[in-house]
Amino acid sequence: MTKTDGSAPLWQGFYRVPQLRRWQRAIAGRFACRVFAAPADVSQLSALEYAAQRVCLPGTRIALVSSGAEGLVIPVPLFPKFEGLRQYAVLLAEKDLPVAGLIAGISGQAFTLEAWHLGVGSCWMTGNYRRSLAKAHCREGEQVMAVMPLGQPQDPAGALKRQRKDLSALCQDDPAAWPHWAYKAAEAVRQAPSAINRQPWRMSFSGATLLLTSPRFGSIDDGIAILHLEAASFHCERSWRFAGNQRGVLLKAEESCDTI
Ligand SMILES: Cc1cc2nc3c(=O)[nH]c(=O)nc-3n(C[C@H](O)[C@H](O)[C@H](O)COP(=O)(O)O)c2cc1C
Repeated sequence: MTKTDGSAPLWQGFYRVPQLRRWQRAIAGRFACRVFAAPADVSQLSALEYAAQRVCLPGTRIALVSSGAEGLVIPVPLFPKFEGLRQYAVLLAEKDLPVAGLIAGISGQAFTLEAWHLGVGSCWMTGNYRRSLAKAHCREGEQVMAVMPLGQPQDPAGALKRQRKDLSALCQDDPAAWPHWAYKAAEAVRQAPSAINRQPWRMSFSGATLLLTSPRFGSIDDGIAILHLEAASFHCERSWRFAGNQRGVLLKAEESCDTI
């Protein structure tokens, strides 16, 4: 399905079609969940443990913390509050991993979408959490990239409240003129979460290739967008490469009818 060569980015060919199909479906329902009705139950937790092993790109790791999350969040005035929080995940990366933010963004969003598929809500956090609690889960040579509160969402329809820019604001040319796969992939990026909902991405299309850039390319937000592009184009023959200036990534794809 996915072409590989020596210089292919880490994520190329890493995820399988059934995973990507699940995540493509989860994109529409996922949202930043901060109010939990109950902790993930025993079977959800064991499925999350399995997912944490399966979705992490080389150099990243997810540690699950199944109780004791009460002190994790540092309350900040005007920031949304967390309620009913008992569990969380810690996303870790090796300190010498190149483009660690990007790679962690891909692994973490794969985990988030798998969690949503299992009925577990989550929220990316890189800001107002207690570093000491997360650092306790680091192994030698690792750094904490983010934490993710977890639990069963109080409002499973929370995605209806998401706020997003218009697709035209994210695209340098008119996405209505793009092939269907590229339009759907761009729409999946539009639905992606980003720190303080900045939605920093820009996309353009030329030939058979979609270009994703952002002002400071290489962040967790960019990794999240890449995972959404990969999930949305799971049915395509595709290949990835970094743009020459490392300021973006290029996804070349072709729709293959037999897998739709
Ligand atoms: C990299 C990243 C870091 C984030 N950090 C925080 C955080 O520290 N605190 C918080 O409450 N939300 C945090 N968020 C959640 C975002 O505010 C949220 O995803 C965004 O507002 C979009 O909302 P949605 O995910 O419901 O679509 C973070 C999201 C991302 C992607």
